[in-house]
Amino acid sequence: TEQSYIMIKPDGVQRGLVGEIIKRFEQRGYTLKGLKLINVDRALAEKHYEDLSARPFFGALVEYICSGPVCAMVWEGKNIVAAGRTMIGATNPQASAPGTIRGDYSIEVGRNIIHGSDSVESATREIGLWFPEGITSWTPVAKPWIYE
Ligand code: GTP
Ligand code: MG
Repeated sequence: TEQSYIMIKPDGVQRGLVGEIIKRFEQRGYTLKGLKLINVDRALAEKHYEDLSARPFFGALVEYICSGPVCAMVWEGKNIVAAGRTMIGATNPQASAPGTIRGDYSIEVGRNIIHGSDSVESATREIGLWFPEGITSWTPVAKPWIYE
């Protein structure tokens, strides 16, 4: 099954939104396969967002990600990469629909509380980057009640 790298950014952690965000993925039926709270060093933040290194906001983005602990997660389930992006909402919260995580809890693009992988290839790269130690193997008992 598909996996995605989902990360609650420092503002989401500081604002006490970890439980609310995990709840949304759990309730939908996705499976939590990796979870840790970590302070991010500059090198890891720069590597994670390397595709954006030429953008004018790159410096501020790296500062933001390193400004406090992040909650790094791996979630698994059918179509989790695209479905996770839908649950998260548009990059700029001004355009995020109500009901999405960003649309419900954030206002500015530079404080948009959560990251989600944008493709299956990105997810593979990001999971390897953030969880070099590997993730946890388990099968939830509810699986036959979530999937036909
Ligand atoms: P992530 O899930 O965090 O990767 O966001 P995304 O995939 O919706 O957007 P993208 O990868 O293009 O940008 C990564 C992050 O950079 C965004 O989530 C924002 O936090 C930040 N960012 C993107 N565009 C801007 C911008 O125009 N200004 C500022 N300040 N930050 C931006
Ligand atoms: Mg992105």
